[in-house]
Amino acid sequence: MDSNKEKMVILGGVRLHGEVKISGAKNSAVAILVAAILVKGKCIIENVPNVSDIIDLIDIINGLGGKAKFVGDDVVEVDCTNLSNHVASSERVKKIRASSYLMGALLGRLKKAKVALPGGCDFGVRPIDQHIKGFEALGAIADIEYAMVNLEAEKLVGDTVYLDVVSVGATINIMLAATLAEGTTIIDSAAKEPHVVDVANFLNSMGANIKGAGTDVIKIKGVSELHGGTFSVIPDQIEAGTFMIAAAATRGDVTVTNIIPKHMESLSAKLEEMGVGVQEFDEAIRIYVDVPELKRVNVKTQPYPGFPTDLQPQMLTLLTVANGTSIMKENVWEDRLRYVDELNRMGANVNVEGKDTAVVEGGTRLKGVPVKAKDLRAGAAMVIAGLIADGVTEITNLQYIDRGYENFENKLRALGGQITRRIVNQDAPDMPAVI
Ligand code: EPZ
Repeated sequence: MDSNKEKMVILGGVRLHGEVKISGAKNSAVAILVAAILVKGKCIIENVPNVSDIIDLIDIINGLGGKAKFVGDDVVEVDCTNLSNHVASSERVKKIRASSYLMGALLGRLKKAKVALPGGCDFGVRPIDQHIKGFEALGAIADIEYAMVNLEAEKLVGDTVYLDVVSVGATINIMLAATLAEGTTIIDSAAKEPHVVDVANFLNSMGANIKGAGTDVIKIKGVSELHGGTFSVIPDQIEAGTFMIAAAATRGDVTVTNIIPKHMESLSAKLEEMGVGVQEFDEAIRIYVDVPELKRVNVKTQPYPGFPTDLQPQMLTLLTVANGTSIMKENVWEDRLRYVDELNRMGANVNVEGKDTAVVEGGTRLKGVPVKAKDLRAGAAMVIAGLIADGVTEITNLQYIDRGYENFENKLRALGGQITRRIVNQDAPDMPAVI
C-alpha cells in the first residue's frame, strides 16, 4: 500500500509507558550505504532501519550496477565490486536528499559522476555549494546543467577545504571523494554529528585512513583501495529523541533503549530544565514526569553538539503543554517552521516571527483534527500532538514519516499509544477497531 494513500488515526490522552528499542540511525545508514560504492568487496551493514529512504537507495545502487539487498530484518549486503555506471538520474534519486552522497562516492570511485539534484524535505533553499567547493579543491571540474550535477576529474588530489557553513552533507561528501584520492585532504570547520563519525568509522573499517571525525578538523589520507567487511550502524539519535519527547509530552514513563546517551545530551538537558525526569543508563534513558507542571524553556537549534534541528518540531510540540511562553529559534534551516499552522489548527498558540523564531504560548489543550505531515520530522511532531490531543487526530502525507521512522505506530502501540493506520477514505469512527 502507498503510504501517501494512508492516514494515521490517533486517539489522544494516553500516557506512554514501557520500553522502546531504537533502530539504527537513518541518516547514518543512508550515507554508509552510498559509501559502500567506494568498496570493491562485500559489505555487510547491520542495524539498518527498514524505512523508505533505505529502500530507495538500495534501488538506486542496483541501478548503478552495484548489488544491494536486505539479507535480514536489519542487515543490508552491498557489493559494488562491478559498479560502473556514473549516471544517477531516476525519480528516486530526485526524491531523497541522501542521493547527494552519490556525487562524492561516484566521483571517488569512478572519477566522474552525473547526479540529479537531490530532493528531500522542503525547508527552503538547500544549497550544495560547499559540496562543490570541496570536489573542486580535490581537482574535479563541476557544472550544473538541467538540474544535473556533472563532476569529472582526471585524478583527485588531496587539499585543505575550509567549509563556510557547518554542513553534514558537505563534510560526508568530501570525505567520500577524498578516501581514494592521492595525498591528504583536510576538512576544516567540519560537521561533528554522530553520523559523520559513523561514516568515518565505516570507511576506516574497510581500509580508509580518516582521523579527527567528531572534531572540527578531519584529516583523510588517501588509500588505493577499500576492502569488504561487516559494520553496525549507530542507534538513531533523532528517533530516540522523538520517543523521549513523546514520553514527556504524554506525562508518561518510558525507557528508550539501544541508544548512546551521550548523543542525547542537548535534549536531556532541556528536558531536565523543564522538570522532566531523565535517568541515564549505559545504553538507555528513562523519561518520566512526576511534577504537576512542566516549565517553559527557550531552545536554539545548532549543529552537533547543539540542540538538533531534526528534533525542533517535536520539541516545539512539547512546549505547547509547558507552563508559560517559550521561544524556539531555528538556526540551521531557513524555513523549517511551516508546520506550525497545522499545530495551531489543533489549538496550539504559536506565532512565527520572521521565518526562524516561534513564540510558543504554553498551557494550551490540543484538539484532534485532520492534519498533514508537512515533512519527516514535522510528521513526527503531528504524531506527538495527536497523542496529547483531546479526541481523534488523523494525519495524512504519511510518505514523509515512512522515510525515516521504522515501525513507528507499532512501537507507539507497544507503549500504550492508541494509534493505527487506515486507508485515507476509510472512516475511523471514534477510534481504532484495529488496535
Ligand atoms: C543533514 O542534511 C540531515 N540529512 C538533515 O536531516 C539535517 O536536518 C541536517 O543534516 C542538519 O543536521 C541527512 O543526514 C540525510 P547540512 P544536510 O548540509 O546534510 C547549509 C532529517 O529530518 N548549506 O548540514 O542536507 C544549509 O542550507 C533531515 O532527517 C549550505 O549553505 O544538511 C543548511 O542551512 C532533514 N551549503 C545548513 O548548511 C551547502 O553546500 C546545514 O545543512 C550545504 C549546506
